[in-house]
Amino acid sequence: MPIVKTLHIVFMVSWFAGLFYLPRLFVYHAMAAADDRIGIERLKTMERKLYYGIMTPAAVLTIAFGVWLWLGYGFSGGWLHAKLGLVLVLVAFHLYLGHLMREFAHDRNRHGHVFYRWINEIPALPLLVAIVWLVVAKPF
Ligand code: HEM
Repeated sequence: MPIVKTLHIVFMVSWFAGLFYLPRLFVYHAMAAADDRIGIERLKTMERKLYYGIMTPAAVLTIAFGVWLWLGYGFSGGWLHAKLGLVLVLVAFHLYLGHLMREFAHDRNRHGHVFYRWINEIPALPLLVAIVWLVVAKPF
């Protein structure tokens, strides 16, 4: 089990690194001057590679190793059900970031940089704290 849990946590860290960094790229993208085509195309490439090359594979592997821990080692309890509920919210946030990335890729962004500064912290940070607390403390 130690290697499964290690891989679960390593991919979780990679996933969260992307969940925090992609909105930061959106802040720079929303602030970019319209005539800075080179800068805008560079941001589009970085966003696409981060989302499809790192975040999505890390999300799939975090969940795969989590399910392996859950079903392979007989974990159960209210904490796990609450955790799974929060993971669903996390997956919805991940998919929403993918939608925003595609809007930027088609130059259809409708939000200012302040909006992206907010989603840079909320909801990833409270979700991270809540999920880790549930699995470490197992309060119920
Ligand atoms: C479907 C998704 C997931 C499932 C089924 C799942 C399930 C599990 C299980 C059964 C354990 C072992 C608990 C133990 O050893 O006491 C575990 C450990 C852990 N999970 Fe997940 N997990 C999932 C997603 C996540 C996510 C998204 C995070 C991100 C915050 C996360 C963070 C952790 C951490 C930090 C541990 C280690 C806890 C410890 O060693 O005490 N898990 N997970």
